[in-house]
Amino acid sequence: MHAVQDITTSQQNATSTAETIISAEDLGMIFSAGSVVALEEVGFNISKGDFISLIGPSGCGKSTLLRLVAGLLKPTGGSLSVKGDPVTGPRPDIGMMFQKPTLLPWKSVMENVLLPKTLAGQVTKQHKEKAVELLHLVGLEGFEFSFPGQLSGGMQQRVALARLLNTGAEILLLDEPFGALDEFTRERLNVELLRIQREVKATILFVTHNIQEAVFLADKVFVMTPRPGRLAQIVEVGLPRPRDIEMTKDPDFNQRVFEIRDILGGTI
Ligand SMILES: Nc1ncnc2c1ncn2[C@@H]1O[C@H](COP(=O)(O)OP(=O)(O)O)[C@@H](O)[C@H]1O
Ligand SMILES: [Mg+2]
Repeated sequence: MHAVQDITTSQQNATSTAETIISAEDLGMIFSAGSVVALEEVGFNISKGDFISLIGPSGCGKSTLLRLVAGLLKPTGGSLSVKGDPVTGPRPDIGMMFQKPTLLPWKSVMENVLLPKTLAGQVTKQHKEKAVELLHLVGLEGFEFSFPGQLSGGMQQRVALARLLNTGAEILLLDEPFGALDEFTRERLNVELLRIQREVKATILFVTHNIQEAVFLADKVFVMTPRPGRLAQIVEVGLPRPRDIEMTKDPDFNQRVFEIRDILGGTI
């Protein structure tokens, strides 16, 4: 099968499975301040457990799309639903993470990870055990009582990921989470993110500027056009899992990277 599908075909395929978790139709977003058309006619279906990379030039509406899915913005056109319900605001099964870890510097790693539970009320022994488990999952065992300022950028992002997982969200919206990290740290965190996704069985929407990263992680890459942001194409990655960094030498991997570069043209 050809790796590049047109959007209609991909939508039909996704609709035919019962597992669609996020669905958008003719989605549009116009910011009245400055009358910016940020998104136009965006349509897709995302299946439960999918890893979707979202790539496109700066300002094409990637963060806007994530904020719409998170319920932080209301679309000005079209429809968007999660688990069959229209998105009307933030919901506990959707969580978001950004390029900056936004940790509380005066709180320990453990306290930062416990924050979603602290905000929700009483922190129990079970909550603490769960936080330790999550720190283990993200590779930070032994750092429970360190403070954010004592950790590297990559470790701080691990804390932010553990905190996100501690919200119990099953849909994770990651907005260039490793964009500020060096190449080696980013590669290592990519491999770990895939391992963590396998364990927690999350559905992930991951924004990046990096074509290799987009392909390495994803089941499907959503490729966007410059503003007004439209979905130019959905590229099926179709490479086996589990993946490791050796896969980046594979001709099929590089074929996907070239396809996406072609679709993006000189926009990235
Ligand atoms: N709250 C806002 N008010 C007005 N314009 C906005 C707002 N948020 C984003 N925009 C504009 O929408 C476009 C898309 O922004 P964004 O989604 O942040 O792009 P990306 O994440 O792809 O770089 C940009 O032109 C940006 O300036
Ligand atoms: Mg952005």
